[in-house]
Amino acid sequence: MYSMIEHLVTGTADLIAAFLFMYGLKRMSSPVSAPSGIRVAGIGMLVAILASFLNAFTVNAAARPHLWVNLGLAVIALVLGASAAWFKGRTVAMTEMPQMVAIYNGLGGGAAGAIAAVELFGNKTHGTTQLVVTLLGGLIGAVSLSGSVIAWAKLDTILKKPLRFRGQRFLNAFVFLASIAVAGYMIFAAHAGGATLLPMASIIWIFFGLTLLFGILMTLPIGGADMPVVISIYNAATGLAVGLDGFVIQEPALMIAGMVVGAAGTLLTLLMARAMNRSVSNVLFSNFGEVSKKKQGKIKGAEKPVEASDAGIFMRYAKSVIVIPGYGLAVAQAQEKLYEFVKLLQAAGVDVKFAIHPVAGRMPGQMDVLLAEAGVPYDLIFQLDDINDDFATTDVALVIGANDVVNPAADTDKSSPIYGMPILNANKAKKCYCVKRGQGKGYSGIANELFYEDNTYMVYGDAQAMLVKMIEAVRGLSAAAA
Ligand code: TAP
Repeated sequence: MYSMIEHLVTGTADLIAAFLFMYGLKRMSSPVSAPSGIRVAGIGMLVAILASFLNAFTVNAAARPHLWVNLGLAVIALVLGASAAWFKGRTVAMTEMPQMVAIYNGLGGGAAGAIAAVELFGNKTHGTTQLVVTLLGGLIGAVSLSGSVIAWAKLDTILKKPLRFRGQRFLNAFVFLASIAVAGYMIFAAHAGGATLLPMASIIWIFFGLTLLFGILMTLPIGGADMPVVISIYNAATGLAVGLDGFVIQEPALMIAGMVVGAAGTLLTLLMARAMNRSVSNVLFSNFGEVSKKKQGKIKGAEKPVEASDAGIFMRYAKSVIVIPGYGLAVAQAQEKLYEFVKLLQAAGVDVKFAIHPVAGRMPGQMDVLLAEAGVPYDLIFQLDDINDDFATTDVALVIGANDVVNPAADTDKSSPIYGMPILNANKAKKCYCVKRGQGKGYSGIANELFYEDNTYMVYGDAQAMLVKMIEAVRGLSAAAA
């Protein structure tokens, strides 16, 4: 009777957690409701954790000899993990966010791999299906762990260049097939009554060694602009691994959370690949990030520098301005100054909109978050498809710390590595001001024809400092008129 009540309580808690995950995810689809969506999903996770603790008591007493020790260890792990995440979450800089997502994702994959390892080393799997699912969860979790660590190192610029060598794809395929072969051997050995050439523990170590190596090898050659998609792929993979583990240890909360993350990660991957006009296999195997310097022809003409104050005054008298924020805005932390400048323009009767490219910055939604932080109203913010036709009838495109997402080579130069990626049509506006510190390239490492076009003027300097000058110039005008 007692156990039945516990089952009922944990079942209901799992159902509530599942509902909160989905509802939270739904709310994350709009910047307005996203903060509450995160809180709702967080409460769902809390319910799921409590249900998991309760679930431990529904197991037969004989099958849980170390229950209290295990619960104590789980509490210690929770306190340590939650404190570290809380501290990091509060102190992380906006520009370090992608690295943080990569490493957290890797930890999720590692946890999934560890659950599979506990099942395998403890010889706890029953029947072929369970063994196959455990091995699959272990493989995907381990690949996600080591791959995400490499992605983190790349984003953190610890690893600066993609590593490529002759025969690399052959080696990758070999390591992958070898890990599948070891898994197959383990299934075969389990069927044949357990007799193996090596001790089973050694075979499990070899299996995890190969899968971890595959994650590293697979991610090393992928470079530059493809990292966001790669992280998203590993995110989906981690979700899948967690879901499979949930099936193995019969833990509904893990199954639900894993499948939600897996499905959301897969959709995000496809959307990001579509935003770059590429297929996922092209991202993984085409060496997009590598730019052949030899191939890149020299762009004719010269960049035309202009004073920030002159640009500010010109915009003050324009009818319409579209602002294109990019990674440099996050580096300069200039979002507050940007909105202050925009409010001055609006007060002078200028129609101002913000245009967001899906991969501007270094993680999905980074520009939306920055603008929200500064208090920019959501009805001023437009996504690429909704605003791109407006540039042709706009007086000024103000590009702030953006580069790749406005590079016309994506439209015009078939030999360019970013060819086919949709861009924001800043070059179609009547005039374009680009704010950046100097001749620095964008993430993809290629030159930008936009900066050399007849109607483009360069405002050289840190985005925050340049915006301060623009604000002073426009304020100076108003003061002189008063
Ligand atoms: P980028 O192409 O990376 O260009 C940023 C520009 O900002 C640079 O050219 C740099 O030029 C300038 N800059 C840097 N610090 C600045 C500062 N303090 N003040 C003013 N300007 C500054 O950025 P983007 O146009 O946003 O494009 C994003 C790129 O990153 C794409 O290639 C995308 O595929 C890739 N990526 C995206 C993501 C996601 S999901 N969003 C994740 C990883 C990678 P100077 O050095 O001359 O100042």
